[in-house]
Amino acid sequence: MCGIVGYAGSRDCSDVLVDALSKLEYRGYDSAGIAVFENGEIKVSKAQGKLEMLRKKMEAEGKPHGCVGIGHTRWATHGEPSDVNSHPHSGADVTIVHNGIIENYRELKDFLDSKGVEFVSETDTEVVAQLLNYYYDGSPLDTIIKTIRELEGSFALGIIFAAFPDRIYAVRHESPLIVGVGDGENYIASDVPAILKYTRDYYLLDHDEIAVLTKDEVRIYDEHKELVSKELMTADWDESAAEKGGYEHFMIKEIHEQPNAINMTVKPRIRDGLPNLEECGITHENIKDFKNIFVVACGTAMHAGLVGKYVIEKLARVPVTVDIASEFRYRSPIVGEGDLVIIISQSGETADSLAALRLAKSLGAKTLAIVNAKGSSIAREADMLIYTHAGPEIAVASTKAYIVQLSVMYLFAFELALAKGRITEEKCRKLTASLLGVPDIIEKILKSSLEKSQYISTKLISADSLLYIGRGLDYALSMEGSLKLKEISYIHSESYAAGELKHGTISLITDEMPVIAVVTQSDLLEKTVSNIVEVKSRGAMVIIISREDFTIDEKAYDFRIDIPAMDDMLMPMLAAVPMQLVAYYTSVLRGNDVDKPRNLAKSVTVE
Ligand code: AGP
Repeated sequence: MCGIVGYAGSRDCSDVLVDALSKLEYRGYDSAGIAVFENGEIKVSKAQGKLEMLRKKMEAEGKPHGCVGIGHTRWATHGEPSDVNSHPHSGADVTIVHNGIIENYRELKDFLDSKGVEFVSETDTEVVAQLLNYYYDGSPLDTIIKTIRELEGSFALGIIFAAFPDRIYAVRHESPLIVGVGDGENYIASDVPAILKYTRDYYLLDHDEIAVLTKDEVRIYDEHKELVSKELMTADWDESAAEKGGYEHFMIKEIHEQPNAINMTVKPRIRDGLPNLEECGITHENIKDFKNIFVVACGTAMHAGLVGKYVIEKLARVPVTVDIASEFRYRSPIVGEGDLVIIISQSGETADSLAALRLAKSLGAKTLAIVNAKGSSIAREADMLIYTHAGPEIAVASTKAYIVQLSVMYLFAFELALAKGRITEEKCRKLTASLLGVPDIIEKILKSSLEKSQYISTKLISADSLLYIGRGLDYALSMEGSLKLKEISYIHSESYAAGELKHGTISLITDEMPVIAVVTQSDLLEKTVSNIVEVKSRGAMVIIISREDFTIDEKAYDFRIDIPAMDDMLMPMLAAVPMQLVAYYTSVLRGNDVDKPRNLAKSVTVE
């Protein structure tokens, strides 16, 4: 996912732009560039590779000097990573940076070709720059409005016009974009970490809004050129939250932030020992009649939904369907009045999840969003909203966001079961007290399982492929363990229901195929152990993530990570931690870019 920054103020802004871009590196990128007004001229410097390459190029060729400019980190979609495909892109009168995908860029390019426009890159972004240039009539705002009406797809744009050296323009159409408000200086950025060093005050641009920034003024218009008044937001976390704080990687920092993240998310929603979600628009009255529940999300967020399914069905006896958002939106789901659709999303901007939310609403279902990013699209469009308070999650691989998504699913399940009269207040208090005890136990696990996880990762680093297995909640959890491992270690991993292995997949088992078994559910212990013995007897190296009160024959496994025991239902919140640690250390040992794994973006705001 690309990163956009912009500055209008009194500082020499090349360094400001590059510094701001460095705070967006977590989004993943393969090239970077800036464009700065210097003595009335637009000076562009851009390079393939990391920001260091851009810095080196500017040192060699001279850094642009000026007080107004835009910058970009590119995650290639159209055209391979190269200097010429890097942003910014220009027409004669205009220079832009872009995040998103222009789906009709080919027909627009053909139109511009027919008008004699020549292109130097393979990007969809240059088509936008040339279309702005084609429509440019001396009025930037009219030009922008006319141009964006022709664009299909998702885009956020940072734009500077050669004839207006004191200002930058910003447009949001699906892809997020904020306007940072400083003292005598203003900013645009794709995300808050980019501006935190300079200001914590910002406007969130809404769909098809256009911002015009000079050093002293911010004006925001809608697509009809009407001025829009916006609420000024204030980031409630400081810059250090978006820094590593002494940890080697954001991921290991965020794994260690999990106890605090759970406390910040759960404690404010407990009153007199019971869940209280009234601040989220949720009361017994407005949830007790839901007949069917759908949980729709992507990746790790979907895996949190899988755990939620087991808990909600067990306690509240309401059928729960968990869907991958990109499947849900195209399968003509049987959803309507009386149903609840829960959208889980850390970023609140995942394109498929946002589209699923809109589809669910159009079908008449009530919607509940569980989101970490304040003010994000999914947060603003859902009927009911439970924010997770994990703070900014910078590492691409989600850890603390996942664990707080679990905590919210538990809170909601307890509340729903109580509202439906399926559990007593006493039972609900007991479950809630257990949930409140999880952070302290995770603190212990972080100390007790860290070295073992490191050791076990040394046994995995040369594997080409491995299986993650479990039953029930352990199976739901193994889905997340498998994704965590493969997305940052690049070892192929597959999660499999332990009881299903004998129906085909067990043919894969050799001494080259490690198996990680999650074994935390008392009622399934015996069955899972028999599945473990099945793979062990066929030569697999077996690692089990289990609980210290389980007696398991040592001949059934090679390595074991034990975690403290608590209510079976809450064990996923504990077992997730060693899974995360094993994935992290395996990735580190394999020398991978742990926080920014290849090919991945932190939030997938395009289809
Ligand atoms: C998490 O480790 C992954 N990087 C990814 O699967 C992520 O969970 C998914 O893209 C959904 O993102 P969201 O929670 O921001 O919607």
